[in-house]
This record gives sequence, structure tokens and C-alpha cells, in this order.
Amino acid sequence: MSEVFTYDVVVVGSGAAGLTVALQLAPKAHVAVLSKATLAEGSTLYAQGGIAAVLDATDSIDSHISDTLVAGAGLCDPGVVRFVVENAKDAISRLIGYGVEFTQEDSDAEMPPHYHLTREGGHSHRRIIHAADTTGRAVETTLEERVREADNIDVFEFQLAIDLVREKTADGKSGRCTGVYVLDRKGGRVRLFRAKAVVLATGGASKVYLYSSNPDGCTGDGIAMAWRAGCRVGNLEFMQFHPTILYHPLAKSFLISEAVRGEGGRLLLPNGERFMPRFDPRGELAPRDIVARAIDHEMKRLGLDCVHLDISHKSADFITGHFPNIYATCLELGIDITRQPMPVVPAAHYTCGGIVTDRHGRTDLPGLYAVGEAAFTGLHGANRMASNSLLECLVFGAAAAKDILHCLPTLSSPPELPEWDESWVTDSDEEVVVSHNWDELRRFMWDYVGIVRTTKRLERARHRIELLLSEIDEYYDSFRVTNDLLELRNLALVAKLIIRSALARRESRGLHYTLDYPYPDPVAAPQNTVLTPKHFRLPPITPDSPGADHPSAAP
Ligand code: FAD
Ligand code: SIN
Repeated sequence: MSEVFTYDVVVVGSGAAGLTVALQLAPKAHVAVLSKATLAEGSTLYAQGGIAAVLDATDSIDSHISDTLVAGAGLCDPGVVRFVVENAKDAISRLIGYGVEFTQEDSDAEMPPHYHLTREGGHSHRRIIHAADTTGRAVETTLEERVREADNIDVFEFQLAIDLVREKTADGKSGRCTGVYVLDRKGGRVRLFRAKAVVLATGGASKVYLYSSNPDGCTGDGIAMAWRAGCRVGNLEFMQFHPTILYHPLAKSFLISEAVRGEGGRLLLPNGERFMPRFDPRGELAPRDIVARAIDHEMKRLGLDCVHLDISHKSADFITGHFPNIYATCLELGIDITRQPMPVVPAAHYTCGGIVTDRHGRTDLPGLYAVGEAAFTGLHGANRMASNSLLECLVFGAAAAKDILHCLPTLSSPPELPEWDESWVTDSDEEVVVSHNWDELRRFMWDYVGIVRTTKRLERARHRIELLLSEIDEYYDSFRVTNDLLELRNLALVAKLIIRSALARRESRGLHYTLDYPYPDPVAAPQNTVLTPKHFRLPPITPDSPGADHPSAAP
């Protein structure tokens, strides 16, 4: 008999998106927050640069909108962009209200705080509010404190959501989402969480690649769960590679913030030549896809292991004041960034696509919401602009909570649900299958579905993923579930969806660059790539339904 928990709302994920939803719901709903590791662990904790918002009198909403649209290369939903940009200031005020201490300019103690704004690629103004170079830590730990204080929120750590539960309607069809099966990673048992509404705030899938800036848990679990439950996914070919991850054998996934380039850092070849102006007049502050591709191009052209990022022309005080974490981390590894350049390479960083949602975070499945990096809202288009993602977590987190609170009074309690059945499975005696497949998957995704793609390489990846998936499915059907198996199963499914989406796009646009179609389609209007699970028939799209703004381009 497995444990069963019942809540008004279950929020799966405890990054900026999940904790925002929980805090906004808490005054009026009984909420469970699940995280697969400690509450704080996730991409949010490692965010460096900051959060984009129009906070300076010389900046404007229109300018932030226009920069986002340019970076998004024709695929942003302009209505969603406006919605997010217009709500940015309130989102930042809420964080300050919770107690987040953003970096301030030196100012008179008598005066209201004047926040320092930094600059990143694609932004035509200084508009990134930050807490030195550890903004994510400041945001995540503050939200965590507020959540732990809240009476109406129960926190469940080391709980890995496996799959969503759909209510069966009287006519035998599947109805709304009423819960989620969860592996208790410490006890090894599967539990059932029942709820009137479930929110997926599970983050991105960059761990599908061999090299990534993301922490280990970014395995696309929510995207895979939503797909298996019948939801559409969109624009998964647009995986963003951050241009500058520290290249050092002892530095696992350590990011060198784009703010270093924003504050004057220059990208150099080993001979000291500055190369970005050859690729784009905006130089080091061109949008990320352009900078990452330029680095990749130079590394391949010259057979380099890395390029260099140099900010040593700035004063030591400036560098240690603005980038204390980057300075200290590099110094521990023997690199004094006040005197010498940092070796850097691009790595997978952000999942621009995800679960199709509307402006309230609603997915195709009634009762199921998706927010944060797991969602495809239409904000980022073909390329996310720096520091727009934490903003999206905050704005859509609040929007989803508002919609849930509006709907809750009309929803009945979740019905009795079947328990997890593992009567026919045994403990695995072949864990090597999981570790081998995990490595193989991440390597071929890096080699065949990376920064520069071709149809031939994508086809190779497609064959391999089919084989891997059939092995993983067989394994899943035979053995008791483990954390690694569940993450691998999700990664492999998301990899398949990324490859399908990439093959469907017969042009280069934003982050998707293929040598076979090196330019944007000159004739057809820009289209999103929306995939629909075959095993579910969905109601027709109305102007109000999720993803109505994202018409399908792919079969
Ligand atoms: P996350 O913060 O990744 O949280 C995901 C949560 O889901 C975790 O709690 C995890 O435990 C949980 N979870 C996942 N799967 C399961 C499961 N199956 N069961 C239970 N729980 C699960 N963006 C910016 O805007 N500005 C920046 O400066 C910036 N810097 C970045 C620096 C780095 C190094 C990285 C990696 C990203 C950065 N980003 C930045 C991107 C941004 O941090 C992320 O997009 C954002 O934090 C995602 O928040 P989230 O709440 O959606 O997911
Ligand atoms: C960075 O600090 O470079 C990361 C910013 C982002 O991913 O938005």
C-alpha cells in the first residue's frame, strides 16, 4: 500500500517558477512543493547575470520589447512579450518585498535605494537588476525562506515526480489531471500526490547534451511527463548554447556570466586577436546564438580547445566588486582574472521550447499548468535574450497562481486514484545499461544535434534515439524504477522531440542553424514547431485555448 497525499495544488519544482506559484497560492490554498533534490537545487540557484526589467528612466518598455523580438528572430509572440515586459517591474518589487537584496549603486542612505543595472547581449540598455554575480542564489534562498515560513505550504524534498495521473471520465475517456506519482528517492517507494491542480515547474533539459551549464537535475522531466500525458510541446529545436563556460578540467559546468562581456570583457583568440567584430557589429554583445556560433566557428577553423575571455583591462577593484564569485572561483583554479584571460567554450544552457501554455500557464490538459523553463509561452521565440528567463518564471508563476485561485472554488476534490503497481517488476541487475545509455545519448546529441547541424547528422541521431528508447522502455517495463532510470527515460524522450523538431525546421533561424538550409525561409512566414502526441486527440484550438497563438508547423 503506497502513501497517498492530498492537496489543493501540487507544485512539481522549486526554482524561481515553482516557488513563485506556491507563494502566490499560499494565502488561499493548501500547497505541496516537490523537488527532486534539496529545495534550493536547480538552475535558479546558479543564475548569475540577473533579471531583465525596465527600471531606469532612460529605458522604455518598447525598447525591452523590441530587443526581445530581435533576439527571438521572428518567432516571439508579441502579445506575450508585452505582457511579460509590462509586468517585470511588479515582479521585481515582489522580490524586493520578499527580501531579495539586489546590488545598489553607492548612494545616500537617506535616499530610496538606487539599483545598479548591468548589461548583457541583445539589450540596448542597461536593464539587468542583479545581486553581484550570484543573483540566482539571492533569489532562490530568499524565496526558500519565505516558503518554509508559510503555514499553507508543505515541502517535500528528494521526491522525483514520475508521471501525471489523469482522471477517467464516465465514458472511459481521460479527463483532467488529478495527481502525480512520485518516487521517494530516500525511501525508494512510489507515492501518490492527489490534487485539484498540478503545476509543472521542473526546469529545462540541457543535460541532454554532454557539455552544459546546468546542474544535474535538468533532465526535462516535466516536458516528458506532459508529453506522455497528451500535451503538445513547442519549439524544442531551439536549445540555447551559452558562449562562455569556463574551460577547466576541475570546473564542472561553471558559467562566466554574459555580464562580464556587458561590462567590457573581450573574446580573444590565443594570439590575442579580438574576433567578434568580424562576425557582428555588436561584437561581444551580439545575441547569444551569434556569439556561440562565432566561437564554435573559430574553434573548428583553428583546431582550438577553447577561446579566451579577457576583462583584465578593468581595474582589480571593479572586477572583484562586480564579479566576486567568478573571481574567487577562477582564482581557486589558478586563474587570476584581474591579470589574465579566462579559457571559455560554449555549452548547452537553456531550453527555449517546452510544454505549450497560454498566458495563464494552462497546458492542453485541464488541471495541469506549466511555468518557467519547462514551458513554451512564446516569450523567447527562436532565441532567448539574456536574463529574460528568470523574469518569465516570476511573471508566469504569478499568472498561473492567479488562474488556479480563480478556478479552485469550482473544482471538486480529486477522485480515488489507482496505486502505483510494481507487482511484476524486479530490482535491476544491469545498472550499466542505464549509465551507458546516458553517456551515449548525451554524446551523440552534442555531436549531431549541437550548435551547427546538418540533416544527415540529425538523421543519424534519429536512428540512435529510436534504438535507445526501445532499450530504455524494455528496461522500464522490467525493473523497479530508480532515479537514474527515470531521468534517462525523460532525457531520451526529450532528445527525440528535439531531433524531430530540428528535422521539421527546413531553414536556419535563431538558435537552429543547419548547413543544409543556412538562411531563414525567404518565402514562408516564420512558424513555430508544435508537436502533438499521436496517442491523444485534443479539442480544436479556440482563441482562448492554450497555444492558440502558436499554430502548428510540424506534423
Ligand atoms: P529550476 O530553477 O531549474 O528548478 C527546477 C525544479 O524542478 C527543481 O526544484 C527540481 O528539483 C525540480 N524538478 C525537476 N524535475 C523534477 C521531478 N521529476 N520531480 C520533482 N522535482 C523536479 N536566467 C536569467 O534570467 N538570468 C540569469 O542570470 C541566468 N543565469 C543562469 C546561469 C546558469 C548557470 C544557469 C544554468 C541558468 C541561468 N539562467 C539565467 C536561466 C535560469 O536560471 C533558468 O531558466 C531558471 O532558473 C529556471 O527556473 P525554473 O524554476 O523553471 O527551474
Ligand atoms: C549569464 O549570466 O550570462 C546568464 C544569463 C542568462 O542566461 O540569462
